[in-house]
Amino acid sequence: MSDAHTATDASGHAPFPATGRRVLVSGASRGLGRALARAFADNGDRVAVHFGSREQEARATLDSLPGFGHALVGGDLSDPARAKDVADRAAEALGGGVDVLVNNAAVNLPHPPATTSYEDWSALWQRHMSVNLLATANLSHLAAHRMIGQGTGGRIVNIGSRGAFRGEPDHPAYGATKAAVHALGQSLAVALAPHGIAVASVAPGFFGTMGVPPAH
Ligand SMILES: NC(=O)c1ccc[n+]([C@@H]2O[C@H](COP(=O)([O-])OP(=O)(O)OC[C@H]3O[C@@H](n4cnc5c(N)ncnc54)[C@H](OP(=O)(O)O)[C@@H]3O)[C@@H](O)[C@H]2O)c1
Repeated sequence: MSDAHTATDASGHAPFPATGRRVLVSGASRGLGRALARAFADNGDRVAVHFGSREQEARATLDSLPGFGHALVGGDLSDPARAKDVADRAAEALGGGVDVLVNNAAVNLPHPPATTSYEDWSALWQRHMSVNLLATANLSHLAAHRMIGQGTGGRIVNIGSRGAFRGEPDHPAYGATKAAVHALGQSLAVALAPHGIAVASVAPGFFGTMGVPPAH
């Protein structure tokens, strides 16, 4: 039975709350992450605003959120140990758990195959892999284990990209890692459904941010 404040979980687990959830949004110092943090807060959720290096911008996100119980959590997600630290501190700051993880943090840096040196090419592939794919996998694992331990189920949302399906000629590592994010989401959706955890991936088109200037 559902009403405006509850949503019945597809797996038959206890009703999943539609408001007042504990939400971790990675990469919420700016851009889409900031907008997502505001949308969750507008909905009455508590948000852990994660940032990589831009603490001041992340604090501006935090200060703009309506409601209460929000928190600021910084850390470079390309380091698996730091990712675990971020997940632990976010859960603690949100009152001891997490109900929703949004894997939004990503890098998108140019490396046209024909003109990029091998040194830059290999370094940029490592960077895209570690932030876009491995951090998404690591945060998902950490959140899923926490949600299973809570016995509450949960939600994981991956921010993919149109580039996963259409190619990115000047940013091939970005396109490939986003394709992998979508594949990861398909696997996790099936694997975690029995635990009441729904996993979804979205593929936005272009929108203007610091990461992608409006003229793109
Ligand atoms: N903009 C578009 O047109 C577009 C299109 C399709 C999909 N997307 C996807 O949508 C999402 C948001 O895009 P956006 O344009 O809003 O991005 P953005 O403005 O470039 O912001 C990226 C966010 O990721 C964080 N981040 C980057 N590297 C990190 C690291 N190593 N550790 C921790 N955090 C890190 C940044 O934190 P700091 O700034 O604090 O370092 C920032 O908060 C991304 O997944 C992107 O791929 C964007």
